Amino acid sequence: MSDPSIILEKLLDIKRLDVDPLRGRLFTYIYETGDVQLKKLASKAIELFTDTNALDPTVFKSALFFEKEVVSFAKSLVHAGDSVVGTATYGGTESIMLAVKAARWVYRRTRGAGGVPEVVLPITGHPSIRKAAHYLDMRTIEVPVDPETKKADVEAVKEAVSSRTALIVLSAPNFPYGVIDPIREIAEYASDKSVPVHVDACVGGFILPFMEELGERVEPFDFRVEGVTSLSMDAHKYGYTPKGVSVVLFGDEEFKKGTIFVDLKWPGYPLINTTVLSSRSAAPLAAAWAVFNYLGRKGYLDMTRRVLSARNKLYGGMRRLGFYSVAPLESPLLSMALDDESEVFKFHANMSLRGWVIGLQPKLEGVAPYNIHLTVSPIHDKVAEEYLRDAKESIEGPPPEELVKAYELLERDPLSAASLIGETPLDAIIIAKILESIPGELAEEIARQLTVEVFK
Ligand SMILES: Cc1ncc(COP(=O)(O)O)c(C=O)c1O
Repeated sequence: MSDPSIILEKLLDIKRLDVDPLRGRLFTYIYETGDVQLKKLASKAIELFTDTNALDPTVFKSALFFEKEVVSFAKSLVHAGDSVVGTATYGGTESIMLAVKAARWVYRRTRGAGGVPEVVLPITGHPSIRKAAHYLDMRTIEVPVDPETKKADVEAVKEAVSSRTALIVLSAPNFPYGVIDPIREIAEYASDKSVPVHVDACVGGFILPFMEELGERVEPFDFRVEGVTSLSMDAHKYGYTPKGVSVVLFGDEEFKKGTIFVDLKWPGYPLINTTVLSSRSAAPLAAAWAVFNYLGRKGYLDMTRRVLSARNKLYGGMRRLGFYSVAPLESPLLSMALDDESEVFKFHANMSLRGWVIGLQPKLEGVAPYNIHLTVSPIHDKVAEEYLRDAKESIEGPPPEELVKAYELLERDPLSAASLIGETPLDAIIIAKILESIPGELAEEIARQLTVEVFK
C-alpha cells in the first residue's frame, strides 16, 4: 500500500487542474456563496455519511431521514400541499427523467399502451427533457418562443397538444435566457385537456421564492398554479449544496408510483428503487440537510439579496459598455449581446484570457444573436467591480493575438482547429465557430467520436 500523505499531495496537485470557484471568476456550473463555514459544514457532512447507501433506507435510516427533510423543505418553498409527494435525486436530469417517466406511466394507464407518447416543450427547454424522452422512447414536439420575451409561445403550445401528448414541460426559468414561461396560461389550458404539466424549476426552485419574498416580480410558477402536476428543483444550484441533490415533486401519488421500480421476484434482496440510480451515497443529502439548517430561510434571503445586487451591478455595468439583455430580467441569469457579433467574440476572448469563465451562447435565427451568459451567484457581489474593470478593457482593447490565430486556423481547416480544444482558454469560441460551419447531425457524430477519444 502507498503512503496516504503522498496520495494526498497528488490529489492536491490534481485539484490545481480546476478553476477555484472561491475566486468568483466562474459564472457557470457552480453556485458559489463564498461562505467558507458553509463549505466546511457540507464537507463534514459528506465525510460523515460517505459510507451510507440510500439504496436501502431500512438499513440506512439516515438516508430516509435526510430525504424526508430535504423534500419537506423543498415543498415548503413551492407551496406544495399535503397531496404533493417527492423524491430526492442526484440532479436535475434525474428529476426530469422521473417526471417524464411518471407522465408516460399515467398516459399509458389512461390511454393504453399504443402509439408513441409525446412531450411538448419550447425550444429553450433544457436538453435533459430531450434526453429523458430519448431514453424512454417518447417523441418530443418542440415549439417556438416569442422572439421578444423568449418565453414559450402559448398558441404554439396549444397547437402542439394532441391526444398523444403525455406531458408539457415549461421552465422557471429557462437556462439560455433566464425567463419564466407563461406557466399559468398554459397550465390552465392543459388542465382543461387533462394533460399534465411539469415545471422545470431546477434553476429557479430555490431562489425564485426568495426573490418574491424580497418584493421582486416573479411570474407564478409553482403549485399555486392550477394544472401544474410536477416540478423539479435543484438544491445543488441555488440551494448552495454540494453536487448530487435535486428534488422532484408530484402533485399526486399516482405520478410518483409511476417512477418506482420494484423487483420482488429475483433471487437476491427485494429491490425497490425510487430513483434511476440504485446504490448511491446519502452523503450529498446529508450535506443538503446541513446547508438548509445552516442557512435557514433568513440565510437564503440574504444570499438572494447578494445575488440580485451582483446581477444588477453586472447588468448595469455591461449596459454602460454597450451590451443589451436579449430577454427581460426575471432571474439571476443574464444573457447579453452587442450589436456587432464580432465584438461579442472579442469580449469573450479577452475575458477568458483574463481568467473569467463566462458563457458564450450561439445565435438562434429569429430569436437571439450570439450572447454572453452569466449564471450569477452570491460570490459575484464581491467581484462585480473587478469583473467590470476587466470587461471595460476587454471591450475597448483589440482582439487578442490568440483569437486572431484561432480564426486563421478555423478559416483554413475548421476540423483541425478542434485539436486545440482543451489546450486554450478560447475553447468556447472555437467550439462555437466549428459548430457554425458544419451541419448539426454531422456535428453530433463528431462530438460522439471526440468524446470517445477524450476519455480514452
Ligand atoms: C433549466 C435546467 N434544467 C435542468 C438542468 C439539469 O440539471 P443537472 O445538470 O443537475 O442535471 C439544468 C442544468 O443546468 C438547467 O439549467
